[in-house]
Formats: sequence, structure tokens, C-alpha cells
Amino acid sequence: MSQTKFRVGQGWDTHRIVAGRPLVLGGITIPSEFGLEGHSDADVVSHAITDALLGAIAAGDIGMHFPDTDPGWKGADSLKFLKHACALAREAGYWIENVDSTVILERPKLKDYRLAIRESLAGAMELPVDAVSVKFKTAEKVGPVGEGLSAEAQAVVMLVRD
Ligand code: C5P
Ligand code: MG
Repeated sequence: MSQTKFRVGQGWDTHRIVAGRPLVLGGITIPSEFGLEGHSDADVVSHAITDALLGAIAAGDIGMHFPDTDPGWKGADSLKFLKHACALAREAGYWIENVDSTVILERPKLKDYRLAIRESLAGAMELPVDAVSVKFKTAEKVGPVGEGLSAEAQAVVMLVRD
């Protein structure tokens, strides 16, 4: 890793909506009639942030570190993946300056859970809450997210070193 002062990373993820699974976002289970399909807990925003962190240090992607073929990760708490990516960023000599993320999901309404999700993510990442932003968008009823078939999340992170 070069000694450059700033590194930026972006992440994106999507999961299919299914009945009979919890809707977990940033480690918080949101009351919902449906959840997200996935090998792990399918926490789409934690996955996007994890990929953003890995991207910032050019350390591959989440599937490389936590293959979905590994039975050990079945039903896994995705905050574990996020914690691992934070540790790798810090081992590379960086602190995490801030994280910004967007969850794109038609329903349920998520805004009442914003602070809980931010606090949960910040706790896992060992960051102050004001370093972690979580935004919510519908897809305006257009495309797979808009039709209620899937959820998406996007994230960017900024890493800094002395
Ligand atoms: O997608 P749209 O711009 O219509 O979203 C309007 C607001 O609704 C957003 O600012 C967001 O805070 C909130 N929202 C939400 N839960 C969602 C989607 C959007 O609380 N699933
Ligand atoms: Mg995922």
C-alpha cells in the first residue's frame, strides 16, 4: 500500500426480497413483512460499506474474504464482515474519516430507524455516530427495486493517514 494520505472507496450491493426472512440493515432488524435473501443475514448496507472499505485499500471484495460457498458464513452477522474490513483498513495504516451510504428500498419506511442503524454501524466500526451517514431512497416504483423485488445499497468511505 502506498503512503498516500487519502484513499476513497465505493461499494454497491443488492439482495432479492423474500418472505420469511428478517430485514436486517446495519445490524438492526426492521419490522417488515419480508426480508432479504442471502447466504449471510443479507444486510445489504453492511455489505456495501464493507466493499467500500476493501475498495479503499484495494483488498478485493467481500466475496473474496467471505465466500458464500463457505458454510461457516451461513446466516452470518454481516457486522462481522464490516469489522474485519475496518481492521484491514486500520492495519494498512488508515483511519476511517467518514462513511456515507444509501439504501434503496421501496418499503417499508426506514427513516424512523436511521439513528439506530447509524449507531449500530458506528459501534461496529468503532467510529463516532456523526462519521456514519445512512440515507434512504425509494426507486419511484421503477425497475426491480421499485417493483419490490429487491433492495440495493451504495456506500463511499474516506480513509486518511498522517
Ligand atoms: O425516494 P424518495 O426521494 O421519494 O424518498 C423520500 C424520503 O423517504 C427519503 O428522504 C427517505 O428519508 C424516506 N424513505 C424512507 N424509507 C424508504 C425510502 C425512503 O424512509 N424505504
Ligand atoms: Mg450482499
